[in-house]
Amino acid sequence: MRVLTGIQPSGLPHLGNYFGMMRKILKMSQKEDVFLFIADLHALTTVHNKEKLQNGIFSIALDFLSLGLDPEKVTFYRQSEIQGHTELAWILATLTPLGLLKRAHSFKDKISKGIEPSCGLFYYPILMAADILLYDAEIVPVGKDQKQHVEITRDLALKFNDTFGKTFILPKSRIDQNTKTIPGIDGQKMSKSYGNTIDLFADEKILQKKVMSIITDSRGVNEPKDPQSALIGIAKFFLSAEEINAYLQGGIGNRDIKQKLALKINNFFAPFKEKRRKLQKNPKKIEEILQYGQEKAQKIASKKLAEVKNAFM
Ligand code: TRP
Repeated sequence: MRVLTGIQPSGLPHLGNYFGMMRKILKMSQKEDVFLFIADLHALTTVHNKEKLQNGIFSIALDFLSLGLDPEKVTFYRQSEIQGHTELAWILATLTPLGLLKRAHSFKDKISKGIEPSCGLFYYPILMAADILLYDAEIVPVGKDQKQHVEITRDLALKFNDTFGKTFILPKSRIDQNTKTIPGIDGQKMSKSYGNTIDLFADEKILQKKVMSIITDSRGVNEPKDPQSALIGIAKFFLSAEEINAYLQGGIGNRDIKQKLALKINNFFAPFKEKRRKLQKNPKKIEEILQYGQEKAQKIASKKLAEVKNAFM
């Protein structure tokens, strides 16, 4: 089954990114035919700085490769390198009712925040539809906020099929309901925009500081602890059930459990951190890996685009 998703470069990943999507996509690639691309053209709707874009692309490639992405198993590439994305987007745009895009939540949200929208921002869901349809992707793992974009993709695929004959598969979004969101150090959902993240690749000192500052209640050492706390929400991913139960029963200080947690988080990511450090010194290797993915993607994209053009020319 072909699974495809795009990621926008957005700074260093945190535990929420890791447990929410990165780990899952890497796991899926053991069994499924996974396509993962760096959505640099989408990023261009918000970032207009070459250095920032380049660094972001390099950084996210480093993240995935050091976390174990296997370029043989995952077709890993940069969106802007495959011209078919923008070309198909245009073709789809000619079939897209204006009203459909006007109803897009993510566009409306941005406007309501006072962002002066570019045409690109408005066009965003069409490019996303092209990203998906160009590869006949069946499953699209996305966050809740992107679900509507996958629905728009289905609408456009249907419209094309009705107009020019069956050409596209209708993709399905997959929003993982099982994973509970991981809380940040202040107890809200972990998110860069709340400034409450714990980063995977942070060095040990910073990591420790972050973990020590996870919000805790004022219950005494010997009192039973709140199983719904932010601390437990994070600890669940790293400590054993016994360790957690022992803490919940009382008798273990917050400081002690946090120290243990910091150590576990650090040990868990240490090998990845090491790998990242090494890879970072070798940008040529990263470039080669992306190139390799691009060649694989290009073959499929070219074939599909020819099929699409054939349908109307
Ligand atoms: N818009 C997605 C996001 O911000 C990224 C993205 C671009 C994407 N193209 C895609 C995701 C195609 C899935 C499929 O998260």
